[in-house]
Amino acid sequence: MRKDRTNPPAVLFLCLGNICRSPLAEGAARAAFAAAGIDATLDSAGTGDWHVGRPPDARAQAEARRRGVDIGTLCARQLTPGDFRRFDLILAADETNLRDARALAPDDARAELMLMLDLVPARAGESVADPYYGDADGFAATWDDVDAVASALVARFGSSG
Ligand code: 4NP
Repeated sequence: MRKDRTNPPAVLFLCLGNICRSPLAEGAARAAFAAAGIDATLDSAGTGDWHVGRPPDARAQAEARRRGVDIGTLCARQLTPGDFRRFDLILAADETNLRDARALAPDDARAELMLMLDLVPARAGESVADPYYGDADGFAATWDDVDAVASALVARFGSSG
């Protein structure tokens, strides 16, 4: 069962590699929360371990920079069972991430687990498409999606204090 959320709220963004979608989501959220003057604990992780210790994909860094956000200092890590105790909300990019996360959740999980786009009006149930095997346009689309998620988060936590 979900317990009361932490103050400040703690949100973890989750994707497969933690080098494209979730670091972009973390960067967009950091910028949006800072602009709104709301304190929050924000982090990102991947379900896979291939890129652990690496910075975000160069194309993701370039897209974030184009939008005025530096994600170059982020460092990929893998989701752990402990994340389900530390975070209020774990936001998965797609259904596969959601399923893999559910399999790792401990019995005393506190975090609410859902898709990132479940927070965005009229986008519930949609995935943030994986841009890894595509071109730069895909990263621009990813930013647009995760920026909408960041705005929805600010609205959610800004209004509830
Ligand atoms: P992400 O993208 O899950 O958005 O970080 C990917 C990164 C790496 C791989 C796949 C997706 N990969 O297969 O290595």
